[in-house]
Amino acid sequence: MADKNGKGQQMWGGRFAAQPSDIMQSINASIDVDRRMVLQDIAGSRAHADMLADCGIISEEDNEAIQGGLDRILDEVKAGNFPYRVELEDIHMNVEARLKELIGEPAGRLHTARSRNDQVVTDFRLWVRGALTEAQSALAGLQKALLKRAEEHVESIMPGFTHLQTAQPVTLGHHLLAYVEMAERDRGRIYDAALRLNESPLGAAALAGTGFPIDRDITAESLGFDRPMANSLDAVSARDFALEALAALSIAATHLSRLAEEIVLWTSAQFGFAQLSDEWSTGSSIMPQKRNPDAAELIRAKAALITGHFTSLQGAVKALPLAYAKDLQDDKRLTFEAFDTFGLCARAMAGMIDTIHFETVAMRAAAAKGFSTATDLADYLVRELKMPFRDAHHVTGRIVALAEADGVDLAALPLQSMQTVEPRLTEDIFSVLSVEASAASRQSYGGTSPVRVAEQVDLWKKRLGLEAKS
Ligand code: ARG
Repeated sequence: MADKNGKGQQMWGGRFAAQPSDIMQSINASIDVDRRMVLQDIAGSRAHADMLADCGIISEEDNEAIQGGLDRILDEVKAGNFPYRVELEDIHMNVEARLKELIGEPAGRLHTARSRNDQVVTDFRLWVRGALTEAQSALAGLQKALLKRAEEHVESIMPGFTHLQTAQPVTLGHHLLAYVEMAERDRGRIYDAALRLNESPLGAAALAGTGFPIDRDITAESLGFDRPMANSLDAVSARDFALEALAALSIAATHLSRLAEEIVLWTSAQFGFAQLSDEWSTGSSIMPQKRNPDAAELIRAKAALITGHFTSLQGAVKALPLAYAKDLQDDKRLTFEAFDTFGLCARAMAGMIDTIHFETVAMRAAAAKGFSTATDLADYLVRELKMPFRDAHHVTGRIVALAEADGVDLAALPLQSMQTVEPRLTEDIFSVLSVEASAASRQSYGGTSPVRVAEQVDLWKKRLGLEAKS
């Protein structure tokens, strides 16, 4: 089929006298990318040929020959010796051309009532559907890793930050569960995308449907779609299913990047809150003391790639007139790369979380700094001395200034000093100034108190299908 220059007689070559230029072939061919859809392409062709035979559009004999040929192609794919040929442009023409070589004439009947326009997007929907399931399970793996560590650290105290300034003590378990919540919403978005995606474009043909008496319900059902898409123009040109998938991945990756950034901060000498295991650290070629959080840094960067690929695809689809245009060929490279990158990042993050060592002593010490229990002092003044909160805020500010001047934490400031600002204070005040008391007091629903966090851990164990504490 290929001439001495490796160029083929194109399947669509009937009206052309000359072969495409090399550069035309390079810009046009997509086989290096869309070969990843070979299984989906075979499945789509099987369903299509069966339906054509059911509807009496091709003979049973031709269908048997086609199915047998597709079996052999599947074997070649699995054995790794299917010949992917760039001169055949894309996966659809590669499979069909190989079928012709294997079974001869009946292969030419497979493309009846079908176009590459409905074929490619059928394959692509099938591919994205599978990839969404994998992305969901990668996120579930991360949730389980986070949950396990949260359970170990229900009571471990760390500083909670706003503006990256010490704000109030929180529990590490509470902090880790925040990411479990985010991942759950991410999974929800992925699930929703998969639901909306699950309609069959097959049978839309080039753009307008077909004059052959096909049955699109048959192909939709055999490929596991919920129904055939109702508008053939929409079926061949819609790519919002891929955009929605990438948007969901982009948001999920954004969450991964926030956790990645925290790992970078926490493992720095300046924070000293955590140490990555050897498996998840890298060394420096010049500085022997270094222990670098490369995987976290790469997740931070790769999240941008996923968002970028979403934006690129949206840019390609934006303002594209109906129906199919070749611009849409680039959807697959962007989508495949985004899914590959996401899966890698989610798994790397689960691995890091699973084995990271938290320096709980350093975290607790940091939590006690920065007057993190000042709000507890103000709340005490409101509760016990019936002060309006605004006045309590002011009085607390003056006490904080005293502690700052003495270079001590609030819990270490002598009662006499505090009484120079508010004489009604007694020893009782110290009961609210420790970081443990502060965290324990925050028992409002969703709060950081170990009591509430333990409840959430149990709930999440049930939700993620893990054994809950009895
Ligand atoms: N390789 C093409 C793509 O990925 C397949 C569809 C080509 N259709 C066409 N009319 N040229 O979009």
